[in-house]
Amino acid sequence: MEFNPRALWNQFRRSRSVLGLLIFLIPGVLLVSCAHLETTVVEPLEIPGAVYVGNQRCIDCHTNYVRSFPSSAHGRLQVEGARFEGLTGCESCHGPGSKHIEAGGGRGRFILNPGHEPEACFRCHIETRTQFHLPQHHPVLEGRMNCVQCHDPHGMDVFKPAGGIFRSGPDETCATCHRTQARPTAFPHEALREGCTLCHSPHGSINAKLLVQPDLNLCLRCHAQVQGPGVLPGQIVIGAINHTSFLSRGSCWSSGCHTAVHGSDINAHLLY
Ligand code: HEC
Ligand code: HEC
Ligand code: HEC
Ligand code: HEC
Ligand code: HEC
Ligand code: HEC
Ligand code: HEC
Repeated sequence: MEFNPRALWNQFRRSRSVLGLLIFLIPGVLLVSCAHLETTVVEPLEIPGAVYVGNQRCIDCHTNYVRSFPSSAHGRLQVEGARFEGLTGCESCHGPGSKHIEAGGGRGRFILNPGHEPEACFRCHIETRTQFHLPQHHPVLEGRMNCVQCHDPHGMDVFKPAGGIFRSGPDETCATCHRTQARPTAFPHEALREGCTLCHSPHGSINAKLLVQPDLNLCLRCHAQVQGPGVLPGQIVIGAINHTSFLSRGSCWSSGCHTAVHGSDINAHLLY
């Protein structure tokens, strides 16, 4: 096993998320006071004079959102009768709804619309905020794009492969802005079938171009180096071709080699 900081980071990230969930569902855990856990405690939103009423009170006027919500990422967390019920439903993002309903609803009427405000999500997704602070990141903190351009908070797309966390399938989401990389080509790179996140971290990364790995290991995961008779020690043979001297020039896609990693219209070996 080689040392792979990205995999470790991923593992760390996942365990943090699971932890977040546990903290959510088992408030008792919070009693074990621990400095870094404190950041996961979420203050309920406040709207002066309003109280939490639950999702069912929204259904008459926002039928579609309420119907799709149970299958969304946040809806799945909502445990009937849980102590933090008000923190996982509609009101966890929109604030307590009683005054909005008494007033007969309406825009700007006693309800929050987080719109394009990433802080509304960072309240709970602390680890995501960390990812956006990595040296390479999608310009969300800079205000040039936002979470809801990629994620659908209400789960309207629950029948898509991603189970409702994306606006559409994850790769279609990327394609809305990066057409060049996602377009069909005459010589497609089969790796793309596994999705853009096979090679890119969507939020942020320590590597250029948001890559999950900065070097040839990104490609060797699938294009294993050949070993055995005929291959001399120290030689690097990929796809039956001796790559030893090529690789001294840099990564697989730089130095004018496989520059067409997303597929090519003219070269089967993805050289250009
Ligand atoms: C994870 C946070 C989150 C949850 C939970 C959530 N929403 Fe939203 N909601 C948002 C965000 C973010 C927007 C703004 C979307 C945008 O600008 O594209 C929004 C927008 C809206 C709007 C305004 C749409 C418009 O036309 O501008 C309504 C109505 C709404 N939500 C209702 C609901 C209802 C009802 C529920 C529960 C079934 C719910 N939301 C749960 C985050 C959430
Ligand atoms: C009596 C009907 C009614 C109920 C019940 C109701 N709303 Fe609304 N709500 C409205 C109307 C009408 C609008 C304005 C929609 C528009 O202009 O397209 C609105 C707008 C909103 C908006 C957008 C606000 C903005 O400033 O852009 C959000 C968010 C929202 N509602 C959330 C909720 C939530 C959450 C609940 C349940 C706690 C709820 N509503 C219950 C009627 C209602
Ligand atoms: C009140 C707390 C809270 C708020 C606010 C919130 N979330 Fe979440 N969200 C959670 C929890 C808890 C989970 C499940 C645990 C986890 O994966 O971190 C979750 C899960 C998710 C997931 C799916 C994770 C998965 O692995 O399936 C996405 C995507 C997501 N949230 C995006 C958003 C976005 C975008 C916003 C802002 C519009 C937002 N969240 C606001 C609490 C919140
Ligand atoms: C460029 C598109 C994009 C943007 C912008 C984006 N996300 Fe994501 N997000 C993704 C993708 C793709 C995944 C799935 C990652 C995977 O499968 O490895 C994801 C996964 C998640 C998860 C699940 C846990 C994880 O990290 O894998 C959460 C929570 C989340 N996003 C929250 C947010 C929040 C909050 C914002 C805004 C501050 C945001 N995302 C902005 C594309 C995006
Ligand atoms: C709403 C538009 C939008 C969506 C959706 C989007 N991106 Fe981006 N992407 C951008 C912007 C803006 C930049 C920053 C470009 C810059 O700084 O010049 C960027 C940068 C990148 C970069 C780095 C480019 C470079 O030259 O350093 C990669 C890689 C990338 N995105 C991949 C993805 C992937 C994978 C997805 C889907 C999970 C995705 N993007 C979804 C807008 C988007
Ligand atoms: C097999 C790995 C792999 C997959 C899968 C992949 N990319 Fe890339 N991508 C790369 C590499 C490597 C680079 C860096 C190329 C360079 O620096 O010349 C890159 C660069 C980019 C860039 C920066 C602009 C450029 O072309 O240099 C964008 C944007 C991008 N990819 C988007 C996507 C999108 C969208 C998808 C899914 C449709 C995707 N990538 C799938 C490996 C991949
Ligand atoms: C998910 C696995 C996977 C990853 C990761 C991957 N590839 Fe591929 N790649 C494939 C498959 C499958 C094929 C088609 C079968 C073949 O020719 O080996 C392919 C084909 C190719 C080809 C054409 C082979 C030929 O006949 O010349 C090149 C070049 C290539 N990949 C380069 C790369 C580069 C460069 C990277 C890293 C940026 C990379 N691949 C990452 C799976 C992958």
